[in-house]
Amino acid sequence: MATVAVILAAGLGTRMKSRLPKVLHPILGDPSLLWVLRTLPPDLGGAVVVVHHGKDQVLAALDAWSKAGLLPCPVTAVDQGEPLGTGHALQVCIPELDRLGASKVAILCGDVPLTSAATVFRLCAAEAVLLAMDLPAPGSYGRVLQHADGRLAGVVEAKDATPEQLAVRRVNGGAYALPWPALKRALQNLTNANAQKEYYLTDAVAAVAAELPVAVEICDPEELAGMNSRLDQAALQAAAQTRIQRHWMTEGVTFLHPDSTFVGPRAALGRDVVLEPGVRLEGSVSVGEGCRIGQGTVILDSTLDDGAEVRPYCVLEHARVGAGAKVGPFARLREGTELGEGVHIGNFVETKKARLQRGAKANHLAYLGDTEIGEGSNIGAGVITCNYDGVNKHRTTIGRNVFVGSDSQLVAPLTIGDGALIGAGSTVTRDVPADAVALSRTPQTQREGAASRLRDRQKKQSRVS
Ligand code: UD1
Ligand code: CA
Repeated sequence: MATVAVILAAGLGTRMKSRLPKVLHPILGDPSLLWVLRTLPPDLGGAVVVVHHGKDQVLAALDAWSKAGLLPCPVTAVDQGEPLGTGHALQVCIPELDRLGASKVAILCGDVPLTSAATVFRLCAAEAVLLAMDLPAPGSYGRVLQHADGRLAGVVEAKDATPEQLAVRRVNGGAYALPWPALKRALQNLTNANAQKEYYLTDAVAAVAAELPVAVEICDPEELAGMNSRLDQAALQAAAQTRIQRHWMTEGVTFLHPDSTFVGPRAALGRDVVLEPGVRLEGSVSVGEGCRIGQGTVILDSTLDDGAEVRPYCVLEHARVGAGAKVGPFARLREGTELGEGVHIGNFVETKKARLQRGAKANHLAYLGDTEIGEGSNIGAGVITCNYDGVNKHRTTIGRNVFVGSDSQLVAPLTIGDGALIGAGSTVTRDVPADAVALSRTPQTQREGAASRLRDRQKKQSRVS
C-alpha cells in the first residue's frame, strides 16, 4: 500500500486569458505543473495528474518531462471530462488510485508552484492533514473551521460562508493528505448542493474530518499562493527569484545586479561564480566553480566547467563549455556545441554541433556547423563551414594543430589532416592531407600606376554627365 499524489490541473484558468493551459505557464522558465511535480518525494507510489482543458498540451509536456528525467516518480494522467469541481476531479481518479494501490492520497494543485519540497515531504508523511495559511485579506479562499483542540472541523467556501465565517482569516491552501479508504467513501457521497453547483473536495475533506482527526498545518502564504492571473505569475516569479538568489548567495555566488538577473530553478552554480547584470540562466544549467558570466548573456540547458568565462551578450543553448574556456563577447553556441578545455570562441562566432578539442581557437566572425576541430587548431576570421547543400547537412573534420586562414570556406563533406595549413581566402572542396598547404584563391593581378589613371577617367566622365 502506498501514498499516491493527485495533482489538480484540469481547470481552464480563465483569468490568465491565454491559449496555454494555466498549469503550463512558466515561473522562471519552468511550467507551474513541473514545479509541483518536482517537489514530490521519489518513494511515492506514483502521481496522478487530473487534466482536461488543454489536455493535449499538458500530456505532451508530461511526456517530455518524463523523457528528460525531470519527474521524481511515475506520473499518469486522468481526463476529468467537463470539470465539475475539485471533488469531481478526485472522483474521476477513483479507479486509477485503486489501481495504484493507494492507501493514502496527497492532493496538490498544479497552479500552486512554490510549495517547498520540505513541505510536500511533511504532507506526504502525515496521517491526515490540511495545509492552511493565515491571510490579512482572505478574499475568495475557503475558510478553515477548527475544533477547540485545533483539529479540522470543516472548510466553507467564501461564496457559501456566513458573515462570521467570512471573518476567519485562516484559509484553505488546497493541499491535503488523507487516508484513501475514508476519502473514497466521502467522495462517493458528495453532492453539489452549494452556491457554485460544484462538487467540492472540501466537503469530502470535512466528511473525512468527521470520521478521523485531520490536522491543520499553517504554512508560509508564499508556499500556497496560486497562479490565477498574469499579476499572480509576476508576483510568484519575483518571490521564486528572491528565494533562488538567496540560496545561491549563501552558496558563494556573486550577483552584480540581482534585480536584473534571472536564475531558473534547475540552475546549479559553483562557488565563486560571478553573474553580471542581465544574465539569464534557464532550464538545466550547470556552472562550475569560478565561472564568470558576462552582462546580458542568456544560457539555456548548458554546462560550463570550472573557470570558464562567457563574456557579455552571448547566447548558449544545449552547449558544453570546457574548463577555462573563453567565449564571446557576442558569440552564439547552438545545440550540440562542445568546447574542450581552454578553447577560445570570440566575437560573432556561431557554432552548431561543433566539437572543438582542447586549446582550439576561433576568435572572430565564423560559422562552425557539424564539425570536429582537433586540439590546438586555429580557425581564422571569417571562416565558414559550408555544411548545407540545400538538402543535406555534411560534416567537416579538422585535425590537430591545423591553421585555417581567414575568410576560407570549407565545403563539406571535408576532412583536413593534422598540421595542415589553409591559405587565407581559400574555397576548400577537396580533402587536405596532414601537413599539406592548401590554397585555392585566384592569383592576384596588378598594373603599376593604374589607379590614378582610372580616377582621372572617372572625373572626366562625371563632368560630361
Ligand atoms: C479551492 C478550494 C478552496 C481553497 C482554494 C485554494 C474547493 C471547493 N475549494 O478553491 O477552499 O481555498 O482551492 O487555492 O476545493 N480543478 C480541477 N477540476 C475542477 C476544478 C478545479 O482540476 O473541476 C483544479 C484547478 O485547475 C486548480 C485546482 O483544482 O488547479 C483548484 O481549483 P480552483 O477553481 O482554483 O479552486 P477554488 O474554487 O479557487
Ligand atoms: Ca477558483
